[in-house]
Amino acid sequence: MKRWTLEDIPWDRFDPTQVDPDIVKVVKAASMVEANGGTYANYLAKVFYDDPSFQDVAYQWASEEVQHGAALARWAEMADPSFDFAARFEDFKDKVQLPDEIDRSVRGTRTGELVARCIVEVGTSSYYSALGNATKEPVLKEVCRRIAADELAHYKLFYKHMKRYMVEEKLGFWRRLRVAMGRLFETEDDELAYAYYAANHREDGPYDRRTYARAYARRSYPFYRQRHVELGIAMILKAIGVRPRDWLTARLARIAFGFMRMRADRLAKQGA
Ligand SMILES: [Fe+2]
Ligand SMILES: [Fe+2]
Repeated sequence: MKRWTLEDIPWDRFDPTQVDPDIVKVVKAASMVEANGGTYANYLAKVFYDDPSFQDVAYQWASEEVQHGAALARWAEMADPSFDFAARFEDFKDKVQLPDEIDRSVRGTRTGELVARCIVEVGTSSYYSALGNATKEPVLKEVCRRIAADELAHYKLFYKHMKRYMVEEKLGFWRRLRVAMGRLFETEDDELAYAYYAANHREDGPYDRRTYARAYARRSYPFYRQRHVELGIAMILKAIGVRPRDWLTARLARIAFGFMRMRADRLAKQGA
């Protein structure tokens, strides 16, 4: 059962004077990626074809992701009444496809798949915490608070199943690290960049991955504060089996946060 529904959101508290146009753009993009959760559940069901209890978990998880998409889309349509989520999403989901005829993970093993899922949930939980913090608009703040809590629960869920498969597949530290790093550096990947384009710029000419990945990063990196990055680093370390020590977490977070700051500044100067 879902922890909340759209009825729990105080939509009548929406305050148009507190809407930031850059935040609207990234929320539109996020709404599409989230709404596409069902595609991932189908993929996971194939990877875990002989594990019906995990398949149930995957479908329940996806229904929560789809709800995130619905909440963000509703907010984006309130903030920008010209935004037609249904029409934009139609185009997006046709373009973003996952491998169909498969019986194993694109990450090589089931443990690897679950490590990658953990990394995605680290990204989303810190992203919505940061976005909720950055926005002054009360309804979006509440939507982000609820989504961030779900994403944290998703991380815990995939982590639990990863531990189970680790016993079976005996995937060592270095391979888990490789999967985690691989997934981390996909964060500016095609899906988000394309979502950003499809939501905001489809009329402006053909899609260019680099342009829209940069435009998205420029608008989302500034939301983060050091504490969001620290929490994310601690979760990543745990997922790859490193006991999150305070000094190590703080040091890695400083490096990551410094990089994000620098990149956001540079992109802003370049007018991305
Ligand atoms: Fe989500
Ligand atoms: Fe999630």
